Amino acid sequence: MALRPKFVAGNWKMYTTLGGAKELAAAIASGLGDSRTMVAVCPPTLWLSAVADVLKGTSVLLGAQNCHFEKEGAYTGESSPQMLLEVGCQYTIVGHSERRHGFGETDAFLNKKAHAALSAGLKIIFCIGELLSERETAQTESVLNTQLIGGLAGITAEQMKHVVIAYEPVWAIGTGKVATPQQAQDAHAYVRRTIAGMYGENVAAALLIQYGGSVKPDNAATLLHQPDVDGALVGGASLKADSFLAIVRAAG
Ligand code: PGA
Repeated sequence: MALRPKFVAGNWKMYTTLGGAKELAAAIASGLGDSRTMVAVCPPTLWLSAVADVLKGTSVLLGAQNCHFEKEGAYTGESSPQMLLEVGCQYTIVGHSERRHGFGETDAFLNKKAHAALSAGLKIIFCIGELLSERETAQTESVLNTQLIGGLAGITAEQMKHVVIAYEPVWAIGTGKVATPQQAQDAHAYVRRTIAGMYGENVAAALLIQYGGSVKPDNAATLLHQPDVDGALVGGASLKADSFLAIVRAAG
């Protein structure tokens, strides 16, 4: 079995003040110790530059929560991958369920973002996940399959080195209803098999697959020790340094 690092990322969504974001980033960076787990934070776009300054010289990676698919243009309110790189991002989240379901972003639209971000030199955390109604009608695998095939269309095996998949069942995001370790493992194993079908065993074995949806310090360890769970994308519990660091420690 491939030795994959663990990767824990915090998605701060539309939370924090500027001062609070800088403090949170500093507390995370200084609390990491010699953890071997990869760690990223994804602050609101407006705070990226200030948080990048705080993180300079630390091992904490910086991600955006979203990006546009054009380099520049008349796209009011949007940020291009090139702009995100310029402020110091290494990653961007693409396809978070709040973008899919709150802003109507489709697989085809997200595919354009994935291409734009990867061609510009950003790594992506590409989110997929089923609704409760889809799980209850046994459609989880077909939904994940469609999201992977549509979202990654045209992405090369070489580019897949810069792709992390986050499996986030929509019913578990922000609800306190976490997937069981077995549900997470089953979905992650399915994602890995699907990627193996699309790109071959080597790409699949190296792929990092994060679980997201109500990850907390008290449930992180069992989830993160499932064989196909390589980390977590954390929302609510990433807004406090203590709880985020506890999740990072649980991964190690
Ligand atoms: P949550 O959010 O941890 O608050 O459920 C996860 C996410 O939205 O990535």
